[in-house]
Amino acid sequence: QMRNALNQLADTVTDPNDKERFETEMDNFFSLFRRYLNDKAKGNAIEWSRIAPPKPEQVVEYDDLANSEAVEFLGKLAVVKLNGGLGTSMGCVGPKSVIEVRDGMSFLDLSVRQIEYLNRTYNVNVPFVLMNSFNTDADTANIIKKYEGHNIDIMTFNQSKYPRVLKDSLLPAPKNAQSQISDWYPPGHGDVFESLYNSGILDQLLERGVEIIFLSNADNLGAVVDLRILQHMVETKAEYIMELTDKTKADVKGGTIIDYEGSVRLLEIAQVPKEHVNEFKSIKKFKYFNTNNIWMNLRAIKRVVENNELAMEIIPNGKSIPADKKGESDVSIIQLETAVGAAIRHFNNAHGVNVPRRRFLPVKTCSDLMLVKSNLYTLKHGQLVIDPNRFGPAPLIKLGSDFKKVSSFQSRIPSIPNIVELDHLTITGPVNIGRGVTLRGTVIIVCSEGSTIDIPPGSILENVVVQGSLRL
Ligand code: UTP
Repeated sequence: QMRNALNQLADTVTDPNDKERFETEMDNFFSLFRRYLNDKAKGNAIEWSRIAPPKPEQVVEYDDLANSEAVEFLGKLAVVKLNGGLGTSMGCVGPKSVIEVRDGMSFLDLSVRQIEYLNRTYNVNVPFVLMNSFNTDADTANIIKKYEGHNIDIMTFNQSKYPRVLKDSLLPAPKNAQSQISDWYPPGHGDVFESLYNSGILDQLLERGVEIIFLSNADNLGAVVDLRILQHMVETKAEYIMELTDKTKADVKGGTIIDYEGSVRLLEIAQVPKEHVNEFKSIKKFKYFNTNNIWMNLRAIKRVVENNELAMEIIPNGKSIPADKKGESDVSIIQLETAVGAAIRHFNNAHGVNVPRRRFLPVKTCSDLMLVKSNLYTLKHGQLVIDPNRFGPAPLIKLGSDFKKVSSFQSRIPSIPNIVELDHLTITGPVNIGRGVTLRGTVIIVCSEGSTIDIPPGSILENVVVQGSLRL
């Protein structure tokens, strides 16, 4: 039934130039869908007893890597940013990468600065490649226009556009190829393999002499090109390297690397049987988590795609889309996604490198945004460098639901307080922070419903709890 429905969708493509691409995409979607049904029928859950923490040779320590500034390998490198996702979780309508981070510059602008600096410093021409989706392509094109004529080659390609699946009937949500945007989805960053290949960018890169790609999330400003990992990749002939970092109590949900009967695999929390979730979260048993900074050999990618070897674990993601017509109820759908980290098991000599925390600086919430915007970091060539006077790890910031959207965060905290000596900040309720505020130690501000707390400009708050509707 699904196959027929997909064929019917293909029949509705009006642009003859688009037909072949559409059909390939529907074929790829169909194999994902079939695999999903098969896995479900087989009850294809992992066997917990076969899982072990990684062996020492499966995770190499960053500090043990050679440090010889091997610049010659830069000629073989391209940097890829995963840029298919929207900033919806932070209340943005466009791509997350266009959110302003510092000095009027977005994530994208800062990544461009990083590559320009690399190219200038070593007199190389490392291409900057963006994987967009139908959701992010137009906005991204607008931003990168301004880099035409700069000393940087920016290449873009779009990831697949798959049909969402109606939960009840297991049929595609779109009725025809032109069906509304909300009937389609980008199928996760595991899609990078097929999309790189199908878009022709993979071959273009090979023709340029690129052999290795360094891929990371667009919001991870810590993911700068690292010559030591690059050299290690070349010397160990690894086809795939995953950067991991030490897990703390704040990141127990991140995917972890495991040894599964001698081979390296990624284990995500969604795959863990309920009774073992606490064990999974333990920072003693599974010490590292995946930063999604991943180095891959381009020819190896070509091989696994051409041989149809990829079978990454499928993550079914349930959602509801608003009804077409008023009075009808919302429609429950599932979208089948995959993650690039799950492909680790399909590559030769694949292993992890345990990197310093500074290589993982993601922005998932406005609490993270506050951190990267603050004076704890200074900007150097697009890279955020932590204040040398900072003692210990970055502070833990928890802003409540009144700060969920970037716009409300910006209006409540128009000027980021000085947080160089802050350890922990929690804000609950509608709180406004004035200019020039300093926060030190542990600061908790709890505002009860129906009132607001305004922290006056210039205040210094040190190890305090501010409560109620009190105005300082
Ligand atoms: P996610 O939305 O998956 O972030 O996007 P996450 O919640 O941190 O999850 P994981 O653990 O990394 O998967 C991560 C990056 O992948 C891109 C996003 O734009 C972001 O940069 N992404 C996500 C895509 O490019 N395509 C997708 O289909 C999904």
